This record gives sequence, C-alpha cells and structure tokens, in this order.
Amino acid sequence: MKKREILTKNEVIEGFREHFKVAPGFLVRTPGRVNLMGDHTDYNGGFVLPMTIDKAVWMGVRQRGDGVVRIYSVDYEGECRFDVHGELKKDQNTWFEYIKGCAWALLQKNFPLSGFDAVLMGDVPQGSGLSSSAALEVTSLLVFAELGGFELSATDIARLGQEVENQWLGLGSKLESKFGVTDQLICAAGQADKALLIDCNDLEYRPLDLPEGTVAAVLDTAAHHSVASAVYNERQEQCQAACKILGVSSLRNATQEMLDAGKKNMPDAVFRRVRHILSENLRTRAAAAALREKTPDVFGKLMDESHFSLQYDFEVSCFELDTITSIARGHSACLGARMTGKGLGGSAVALLYTEADDFTDYVSKHYRQQTGRFPNITLCRATEGGRVEKLQGKI
Ligand code: GLA
Repeated sequence: MKKREILTKNEVIEGFREHFKVAPGFLVRTPGRVNLMGDHTDYNGGFVLPMTIDKAVWMGVRQRGDGVVRIYSVDYEGECRFDVHGELKKDQNTWFEYIKGCAWALLQKNFPLSGFDAVLMGDVPQGSGLSSSAALEVTSLLVFAELGGFELSATDIARLGQEVENQWLGLGSKLESKFGVTDQLICAAGQADKALLIDCNDLEYRPLDLPEGTVAAVLDTAAHHSVASAVYNERQEQCQAACKILGVSSLRNATQEMLDAGKKNMPDAVFRRVRHILSENLRTRAAAAALREKTPDVFGKLMDESHFSLQYDFEVSCFELDTITSIARGHSACLGARMTGKGLGGSAVALLYTEADDFTDYVSKHYRQQTGRFPNITLCRATEGGRVEKLQGKI
C-alpha cells in the first residue's frame, strides 16, 4: 500500500478525474477516531469517551444510471465492482467487503440503492487502532443514503455498521466476538474539538469540549500480538460468565456490592475482569466530568489509572504498550497516557500540553532504545464526523 501523509479535498477530486475522466458529483469525508477513555466497556453496555481525529477516509462519487457500484481504491491501486440489483456474495475479506456489506445491510432493510462510480482515498493509518474500517463503513453508508435520497442518523449508521462487522464480515469467520458500535458512532457523530461521552447501553451521546491548550497523541507501538483476537474473545466470554454468576443481564447492571458478594464464586481472573469494567465505567464518567470542569490534570490522572487497570485487572496490555505509556509519562508535557482499543499491541494515547515540541522525538528515541521498534506518533485534533459535500449542486 502507498503511504500518504496529508490528503486534501482537491486531491480526491483529482483522483476521481484521473480515473473516471469526469468530475465527481460529491465527496464524503469521515474521520478516524481514538478512544480517550473506556476500553472493553462497550460490549458490557458501559461508557466510552472517544474523539475523532484529523485523518480521514474519503470518497469522490458520481451517480450511475444503473445498479453497478464501481470503486477504485487509489491506495490499494485496485478496482472492484458489484451490482446492488443483483445477488450480493461475500468474497475474500478485503477493504471492498466493508462497502458491499453496507449495501447488504441497507438492502436487508429495504432502503432504495443506486449504483455509482467512486474513488476511495484516505490517510487514516491502517492497523493502528484508529478505526479506518469504521470510517470506511460510515463513508459508504453516507454515499448510499445521499444517492438513495434517505436519511440515516448517526445511531442508525452505528447499528448498520455493527451488522456489517458482525454479520457480513463475520460470515464464515472463526472469530465469535461481537464488535461494539462505538467506533462507527464516533466516526459519524464526532465534532470538531470535542470528545463524545457515549452510553453503550442505549447509544445516547454527549459532545464535550476537549481541554484548550492540549492535544492528543496517538502512540502506535508498531507491535501486534497474534493472540489479541483470541484474548478479545476470551474477555467477552469471561464477562458473560461473570454476568451469570452475578445474576445480571449485563455488567452495566453489576455493582461493587454484588461483586464483593460474588467473589467467592468466581475465579480470581473473572473477579478482576469485572473489577476493571466497574472501575473503568466510573473513570470514564469522571473523565467526562473533568472535561466539563476543565481540569485536564484530573483527566490525565484518570488515563494513567485506566492503563493500570487494563494492565493488571483486564490483562490486555503488553510490554510495548506499558513501555510507551511509561516513557510518555516521563515527558513534562504529558498529562496522562494509556493503551487504547483492544490492546496486546496497537496504539496508546497520551494527552499533552500543546507546547510539547520535542515529545515525538523524545518518545520515539526512548521507545526505540527499549524495544528495538520504530513507533508511529501522530498528534491529533478532533474534526467533524462523516459529512457529504456536494460539488456542483447536481449529482
Ligand atoms: C476493539 C473493538 C471496540 C472495543 C475495543 C476495546 O477496538 O472494535 O468495539 O471493544 O476493542 O475497548
């Protein structure tokens, strides 16, 4: 795949022109996201606090008169096509299946779909836990809605995206995990310079101003442990087992008193998993309060505590994530740092004062020395969630 640094609207328009020899009718841009607080809480009906980033997935689109969807990916240098009026079949798991899966999910609900030509471009780093796939799903759903003349709320988009992940992409997959809905929700509903507090119980969300004078840094460890998916599934099973023992339908409904009383009936590992979920939900709400109260130092401290809970109680961190967060905390501009997402590799996130000129060099140098790996560090600003931009007033 070609590496891309900055992507502009004009590049997307040019990309479309180059491939299709005409101008696109409209553009859709959807940012990636990073989770600032609340991990492994989403599939337990808990709270998460993500923000969008300034890197995005883009499509330049032109409507066709038939049902053919023809998409050229500039980054993968490949074109794929299918017909929304024909039978949709799942092929291999490639980027293209996310788009086809969106058509499938909409057709299941009888939305009218139309064919289109599109170029797909993006600068969300892939495999770094920044939700490039959720951004692609949101982009695709917005394209279909724009052409079909129907509206989808951010919550509709999130639920459709979850169906794509769990039902279309999960088809024939050995993985039994059910992915949450928050990635698609933040990519669709995110706002400039704000984080979203999402209640995964009912998908209600509230935008909160990010602290002035701070910036979020995504610290990609460049480490990926192959056990990550198996561990993700195991954690879901352990949480479900805990629900049975505690007599609740979801850990959202469990309390500290229930956990204390149930401790003797559960393996120590299951006890610690629940302790993480309960404490992480409290921390996530406290972090939201810290945003409202404009106390970024409190926010940072909660990030550190969250990391330790994920490390010791939920046991989804790893040497590289512990190392990079510990180095980040050693820099004077860092308010707090934690792993983010599934864990066992992938990325961490740190909250920094904006005047942290040497932070990237400092963390890169020490991380390289201690692990032998080259991290990828991105400073992020929150940008608007998925949007359609018409170019000529007429598609
Ligand atoms: C993955 C999933 C999310 C969430 C995180 C852990 O990134 O896609 O839905 O469960 O793990 O917080």
